[in-house]
Amino acid sequence: RSEHTLTQGTDINIERNTACKPRPDPSTLVFGKQFSDHMLTINWSEKDGWEVPQIKPFKNLSLHPASSALHYSIELFEGMKAFRGVDNHIRLFRPMLNMERMHRSTDRSCLPLFDKGELLECIRKLVEVDQEWVPYSQDASLYIRPTFIGIEPSLGVSRPGKAMIFVIVGPVGPYFATGSFNPVSLLADPSFVRAWKGGVGAYKMGGNYGPTIMVQNEAVKRGCQQVLWLYGEQEEITEVGTMNLFIYWTNEKGERELVTPPLDGIILPGVTRQSLLDLARAWGEFKVTERTMNMKELLKALDGGRILEVFGAGTACVVCPVGSLLYRGKYGRKASEWAPLVV
Ligand code: COI
Repeated sequence: RSEHTLTQGTDINIERNTACKPRPDPSTLVFGKQFSDHMLTINWSEKDGWEVPQIKPFKNLSLHPASSALHYSIELFEGMKAFRGVDNHIRLFRPMLNMERMHRSTDRSCLPLFDKGELLECIRKLVEVDQEWVPYSQDASLYIRPTFIGIEPSLGVSRPGKAMIFVIVGPVGPYFATGSFNPVSLLADPSFVRAWKGGVGAYKMGGNYGPTIMVQNEAVKRGCQQVLWLYGEQEEITEVGTMNLFIYWTNEKGERELVTPPLDGIILPGVTRQSLLDLARAWGEFKVTERTMNMKELLKALDGGRILEVFGAGTACVVCPVGSLLYRGKYGRKASEWAPLVV
C-alpha cells in the first residue's frame, strides 16, 4: 500500500485551550492518570484521504457505537516520552523508532499508512504547545500516547474505510506503585501465553494487552507483581508484563553475557530494549546476545549461582529489576539467595 501524506502541504490547525488546568506536582505523579490541555487528532477516510491535523483542547471523543475499534479491536498505539533536560531543553527519546513501529502495526492492522516524518512533526508540535506539561523534574517525564483506531461505523469484519489517529500526552512518574528501580517479583506459569508464532505479539496493538490483565491479577493473587510470559513446550522465556526481559549472567562458557530474547515474532520490539542493546554493544564490556533462553537453562544457571541480574525494560517502566520468581509452586530470590534454590 502506498503512503499518504498527512498534512498535504497544509499547516497543522491549532486551537489553543483558554481554560488550562493546573499542573500537578511532579513528585505526586502516578502513571497515566493526568493529561495535558491539548490533543492531536487526524482523521482519514477512504474517500478523502487524510484531513488536516488538528491540535485542539483536550476533550472526549465522539464515536459511532459501531466503530470498528470498539468491536474488533482495530486499534494500535505507541508509548513515547519527552524529557526536560537539565539545560531546560525538551527532548523526545528516539521518536523515529516509535514512528517506525507504529507504521508496522498500522500495516498489520489494515489501517491507512502515514508519513512517519509528518506524524512525528505533528507530535513535536503538540509537545511544543503543551511544553509546560513536561515536568521540571529528573524523576518524571511527559508520556506520549499516539493511538490509531478504526472508526468505520460498520459491523462487517473488514478494513475500515474511516480511521483516526489521536495523540494524548500527560506527565508521568514511575509506572509501578512500588516506585522506580525497586525489584518486582514474577509469576512464571506455562499455562498462560501472551503471543504465538504467526500471531501479532510483535505489534503494539491494544488487543495484546487487555487479555493479560486477568493473568496479571492471578500473579498478584499468588503474591507476585508481574507475569513472566513463557512460550511453547520448551518454556521459552519471552517478556515480563509490559516490558522486554534481559538476563545478565555468566554463561556456560564462563563469559559475562547480556541476553534478551530475539525478535522472532512473539517479542515486542521495544525502543528501550533496542537502546540497551545499542549501549551495551557500544560499551563492549561483555557479550551481548539476542537469543532464546528457556526455563530449564535459567533454573540451571540460578542453581549454579550464575545469574547476576534480571531486569525488564520498557518506555513506561524504563528499567525494572526482577527480585524473585515463582515457578511451579517454588519461589526464589535473586543473586545469593536465588542460587541455592532447587526447583
Ligand atoms: C510502554 O512502555 O510505553 C507501554 O506501552 C506499556 C504500556 C502498556 C503501559
